[in-house]
Amino acid sequence: MKERLQKILARSGAGSRRTAEQYISEGRVSINGKVVTDMGIKVDPADHEICLNGKPIHCSEEKIYILLNKPTGYVTTLSDPQGRPIVTSLLAGAGISQRVFPVGRLDLDTEGALLLTNDGELAQHILHPSFEITKTYAAKVTGRPSVDAIGRLAQGIELEGRRTSPAKLKVIRETARFTVIEITIHEGRKRQVRKMFAAIGHPVLELKRIAYGRLKLGSLPSGKFKIIGKKDIEKILAGN
Ligand code: URA
Repeated sequence: MKERLQKILARSGAGSRRTAEQYISEGRVSINGKVVTDMGIKVDPADHEICLNGKPIHCSEEKIYILLNKPTGYVTTLSDPQGRPIVTSLLAGAGISQRVFPVGRLDLDTEGALLLTNDGELAQHILHPSFEITKTYAAKVTGRPSVDAIGRLAQGIELEGRRTSPAKLKVIRETARFTVIEITIHEGRKRQVRKMFAAIGHPVLELKRIAYGRLKLGSLPSGKFKIIGKKDIEKILAGN
């Protein structure tokens, strides 16, 4: 996206916009090797090399945080060799110019809360096991797991040679054929929730992530998203 040169310089940490304007007027700024002194010039930092005092600047885009209600049938990778729909296609046409990526994955057949951002540092924080940021899922499982089986999952079970960390579980609905259980975990192993319920003999029929930390998906319709702010990020980080 094209932006005023002084704005780009300021965001790169060169100083205030006024300082950046001063640098431009002093002939200290170049675009693709050519010194520019024109104050009104607009450039796309993705397509041009902008240098200050002969050194390339590092343009950081404005950080953006998006909470999407991922429908089933979408992949959380940024491209798919099999041509299946990718989650970022759901943002098309909304005027989001930043290149965002999903924070962690959700299976093709899992729906629900998916955070997308261009903030690599925050993504790492959320995903790094040491910060123990929780994720809560509503799992519809076959039959009626016993109190004992649910207790085993809560304490941690052996899964592929490694014990799962303690989890929180709450039965939400029970019928003769299925049970809906809310499960909160802070690990992110591949298909972990599905494997945990399969291990106690009650495979998952449907799975939906309903919260990151204390940030709930709420009534956001499937396939829709909203841009979230600092308060919501704090709710995610508070959820350990
Ligand atoms: N656990 C799973 O099994 N699948 C997901 O998509 C997320 C967590």
